[in-house]
Amino acid sequence: AKSTGPISSNQLLSVVETAAKTGAEVVMDAVNKPQNIVYKGLTDLVTDTDKMSEVAILEVVTTNFKDHLILREEGGLIGDSSSDYLWCIDPLDGTTNFAHCYPRFAVSVGVLYKGKPAAGSVVEFVGGPMCWNTRTFSAVAGGGAFCNGQKIQVSHTDKVKHDDAWSTNIELFKEFTDVSRGVRRLAAAAVDMCHVALGIVEAYWEYRLKPWDMAAGVLIVEEGGGVVSCMDGGKYSVFDRSVLVSNGVLHDKLLERIGPPTTDKLKNKGIDFSLWFKP
Ligand code: IPD
Ligand code: CA
Ligand code: CA
Ligand code: CA
Repeated sequence: AKSTGPISSNQLLSVVETAAKTGAEVVMDAVNKPQNIVYKGLTDLVTDTDKMSEVAILEVVTTNFKDHLILREEGGLIGDSSSDYLWCIDPLDGTTNFAHCYPRFAVSVGVLYKGKPAAGSVVEFVGGPMCWNTRTFSAVAGGGAFCNGQKIQVSHTDKVKHDDAWSTNIELFKEFTDVSRGVRRLAAAAVDMCHVALGIVEAYWEYRLKPWDMAAGVLIVEEGGGVVSCMDGGKYSVFDRSVLVSNGVLHDKLLERIGPPTTDKLKNKGIDFSLWFKP
């Protein structure tokens, strides 16, 4: 059953929203300014803005909850490992887009209670140079999904053509490009999920994600009436690495098209984040 635990849903929602908004203010201040970029990997970059946003978000969370466990993309794990609450902070989702002043990117803050998403907020940056703006997605377990305070819902589109199974990311991209009105790769997981919840995109899949990419977005999708699973159709948790998100009506049809994983690489291997949990 969906639960926010001993902390009321209102309080949890208020803190996730304040935290995401605080991070977004830091990002808004920095957008369009030159960025100091450091490479964490070949294509994985981080800017000072990611770090500053994370510090600001952390401050909001720890001021409100002194004894929670907090997982930050940049700073790692901090707090009480025996806590039932795990915060997942992505201080800037879509850093590459941000570094190029290319919408979309977002700030994403989600909190899990006993491993399940309890509340989440994503502030998406829209517009672009000369007209930056934001919109805020939020959800609390059992309370529906909202964008700028208005209730949102996934789309009702139910059509996907039929074909064989395939299994690599590029094959999926090709196939879905052929049978749909097009596939877009926005490169900001939290934004992709919010667009499904908003009903302007039907589905989204990705391999190799991390808990901070997903914690807020998956709840916003589910509360907006959508469905979230692993790419093999299995039950999804934010500790899994492959995800399929849809408007719900399309979910089984998409899974059928995706078919079983053909290579080990694409099998849904969870990374062992569970060690950060109270058993
Ligand atoms: C990335 C984005 C992107 C996804 C990557 C993530 P970041 O997050 O969500 O869409 O493909 O796997 O790492 O690093 O910009 O926060
Ligand atoms: Ca990153
Ligand atoms: Ca991310
Ligand atoms: Ca990030």
